[in-house]
Amino acid sequence: MNLWIPFAASAGTLLAIASFVGAGWDAPPVQTEQVGYRGTGMFVHRDVEKQEALKAANVAPPAPWEASPDGDKAGTIYENVQVLGDLSDDQFNQFMASITEWVAPEAGCNYCHNPENLASDEVYTKVVARRMIQMTQTINTDWNSHVGATGATCYTCHRGQAVPVSYWYKDMEPKPAGNMTQNRAGQNVVAKFAGNSSLPQNALMDYLLNDKPIRVHTLTALPSGTNPAGVKETEGTWSLMMHMSESLGANCMTCHNSRAFNDWDQSPPQRVTAWHGIQMTRALNLTYMEGLTPVFPDTRKGPEGDVFKVGCGTCHNGVQKPLYGASMMDAYRDSLGKKGATDVPDFSTYQPGTTQTLAPGRQSAIPAPAGTALAAIPGAQKSASD
Ligand code: HEC
Ligand code: HEC
Ligand code: HEC
Ligand code: HEC
Repeated sequence: MNLWIPFAASAGTLLAIASFVGAGWDAPPVQTEQVGYRGTGMFVHRDVEKQEALKAANVAPPAPWEASPDGDKAGTIYENVQVLGDLSDDQFNQFMASITEWVAPEAGCNYCHNPENLASDEVYTKVVARRMIQMTQTINTDWNSHVGATGATCYTCHRGQAVPVSYWYKDMEPKPAGNMTQNRAGQNVVAKFAGNSSLPQNALMDYLLNDKPIRVHTLTALPSGTNPAGVKETEGTWSLMMHMSESLGANCMTCHNSRAFNDWDQSPPQRVTAWHGIQMTRALNLTYMEGLTPVFPDTRKGPEGDVFKVGCGTCHNGVQKPLYGASMMDAYRDSLGKKGATDVPDFSTYQPGTTQTLAPGRQSAIPAPAGTALAAIPGAQKSASD
């Protein structure tokens, strides 16, 4: 008797049920928004139930109190204030209270400080926090092309946690078994930083840390021998695009017209903002996150020993504009809206438990691309302005 028939039928039924009720299946109702011209099929779909949870999770907290900019400066009152010296005492205290709420609400001041000596840098989190202040200042001064006037604070990423919810690192798991499976080129496993697809699992290393070209499109119908990108490169680009879509809770249509993924003229203006976002995220990882490698303990690194890095989701947390576009900058313009007069520290000689003084001078970082870089994107300037 053909026993396999009832087995196959029941397995098939179970699979069908699982695919409807299992994780990743969006049950109706679904909200649909038209984002392009009629007839181009440009719709963004959102699960209505998930929107409620996202709205509740993405609310900007108010400043603990309004700080007066008058009075002696923190730089003269305290012993070891290297970045925020220009703040008034009231502003400085308000800032310390705020970062405590944003980063370590349960542990309090002692998460970064030795309570016996607040000037000491012996707790590594204080050294990290100082560099994070510089990073946030850079976001708000050099990257208006992405964050606009809305800007970012520590809360944009941290949300009341020492380590933000969303970050990425070099992912080599599961390790190949060996022999012929040795080199799977990062494919055919669940890529957790690319929307759990089976696309290349370390594409973010290529695009959000290194600057591998993202463009893969050929503009001629027949091969002309001028486009070096093949299927492999295209899958890498796709993997990055999955990360971007997942991070923003958006689909490809938010930034593209799918009839011509390459064409800037047919793309929504969000794509230009996203282009700057890619440059910014890369610069933050290269200059700030990677630079902190010697300071972070092993428990704060990925299995391959690299620091946790910033992705689009680190700020966006599943919505198209972080905190739905609410700006927290008004209360923090003096602390996070301009750069302090200190240079990039050299952490390569970092000794845990010691106080390291940063060299005075302008903060330097990988410069934001000037207008010329944007001009290199055909149509970019146009769509940025309309
Ligand atoms: C997330 C880490 C973090 C938390 C939490 C934190 N601080 Fe700080 N604190 C810093 C950093 C970084 C500096 C140095 C700033 C600079 O160099 O510009 C600093 C400096 C100080 C100083 C100056 C000490 C000196 O003499 O140089 C005081 C005072 C201070 N913090 C008080 C507090 C208080 C009070 C709290 C709790 C309400 C607190 N801090 C919570 C990171 C933190
Ligand atoms: C663009 C996103 C982003 C912003 C903005 C940001 N951080 Fe972070 N921060 C991170 C990431 C990612 C990590 C985790 C790195 C790791 O653990 O390897 C981190 C780690 C830290 C840690 C170390 C926590 C620990 O337990 O090891 C501290 C402290 C910290 N940030 C403070 C701050 C402060 C203070 C600000 C604002 C001045 C800030 N951060 C702004 C992304 C951000
Ligand atoms: C948040 C905006 C955004 C989303 C969402 C997005 N993309 Fe992109 N995409 C971009 C940007 C920006 C570029 C150009 C990057 C560059 O040129 O450096 C790009 C480039 C591409 C390219 C290469 C175009 C070329 O010139 O070769 C392809 C293909 C692509 N995206 C496909 C997708 C797919 C498929 C999705 C959905 C899974 C998607 N994108 C989602 C912003 C986005
Ligand atoms: C440092 C935090 C931060 C990071 C990291 C970040 N963004 Fe953003 N992004 C913002 C802020 C803030 C805004 C809102 C700007 C505004 O209100 O004008 C924004 C806006 C956008 C928009 C415009 C949305 C709209 O509807 O107008 C797009 C698209 C976008 N980001 C894509 C990306 C992509 C793609 C990445 C990763 C490559 C990324 N962002 C990384 C902070 C960030």
